[in-house]
Amino acid sequence: MNKSNLSKLSNSFEGQKMFEIYNRTKKIKKKIFHFELGQPSHPIPKKIIKETINSLKLGRTKYVSSKGVDELLEIIRDTTKFSRGFKPDLNQILVTPGANSIIYLSMKCICNPGDEVILPDPGFPTYISAAKSLGLKIKFIKLREKFNFQLNIEELKSMITNKTRLLILNSPSNPLGTIINKNQYQDIYNLIEKKNIFLLSDEIYSRIVYSKNDFFSPSSFDKCKSRVIILNGFSKAFSMTGYRLGVAIGPKKLISKMHILLETIVSCVPPFIQYAGVEAIKTEKNFIKKEIKIYIEKQKLFTDFFSSTNLINCVKPEGAFYLFPNVKKIGMSGDEFAKVLLNKLGIAVVPGSYFGKNGKYNVRIAYTNSKSDIKKSIKLIKNYFKL
Ligand SMILES: Cc1ncc(COP(=O)(O)O)c(C=O)c1O
Repeated sequence: MNKSNLSKLSNSFEGQKMFEIYNRTKKIKKKIFHFELGQPSHPIPKKIIKETINSLKLGRTKYVSSKGVDELLEIIRDTTKFSRGFKPDLNQILVTPGANSIIYLSMKCICNPGDEVILPDPGFPTYISAAKSLGLKIKFIKLREKFNFQLNIEELKSMITNKTRLLILNSPSNPLGTIINKNQYQDIYNLIEKKNIFLLSDEIYSRIVYSKNDFFSPSSFDKCKSRVIILNGFSKAFSMTGYRLGVAIGPKKLISKMHILLETIVSCVPPFIQYAGVEAIKTEKNFIKKEIKIYIEKQKLFTDFFSSTNLINCVKPEGAFYLFPNVKKIGMSGDEFAKVLLNKLGIAVVPGSYFGKNGKYNVRIAYTNSKSDIKKSIKLIKNYFKL
């Protein structure tokens, strides 16, 4: 019997365990090298800060439409046309408090308790937490390291039942850094169209890709009119994690339900935050290119080290800012390795198991710290494990 006087579902809430590690590091007295949170290393562009302050001075501090302010909705329409080749209608867009909320909002509006969702393993933990909190049945599509973490379409096909309502995919991926290309997405789209399933395409890292033409959005198949929902936001590309600003683009019936739900929970997203988002999109072209170059240099410090050891295997990331090295040959699970790194060396990384069973022998490293801290951490690992 459930002795608690809280809901049964509340027992299944998991939140984001990465924050647990971050909180643990705050209690440790010695210097900590932080690689645990997906917090970009580049500073927020000054123009965005300026616009935030300007908006506060202009009194953009009151309730606004719960769908988003017109200026932001319009610039999102334009930038979607530029980046994805179609201009969504106004009623296909919803501005949200952080992109994380889109996961919950879309699941809640698409699925009934007991319905099935298919999630990537390894994948972003909020997908699991949100599904559990809504009483959904989770099926995991395995992303195997030996296949460069790409899904197998036949396997996906075999998992779909008449209870399956939603598939979530994430490209570039957190925690893998991998990208799903156009051909792969074509097969996936054909399948979900035939089976009448929604696809939540998590594109939050779409601006952080390492080769110019690599990013592909499955939204170009249906222009988000029937089954594709884009999840995007300002946290990663613009280093605006604390602003909490996200954008969903999807079929208008679904967006209108997500809108009502959002209005019920938070009323609206603060307007001065939204105007900062307008400025971010205006500034983006000059600034992101430079940052990507720096991420590549930081990534290389780690990948050169891994290959020099012959004991740490790592699939080379094509986007985002994560590495997901496999430490099995060192003779440890990812959990054990992460524990040693934190307790003995003061290096905070996330065990791969936080992202699913397929991450048992991996750890996730967000290479967002300074180059000098990356070099120092590599030296500490090298010396400790005699690599
Ligand atoms: C894959 C993925 N999706 C969504 C989010 C949510 O981003 P935010 O809520 O900061 O906008 C994150 C953040 O870490 C992420 O890594």
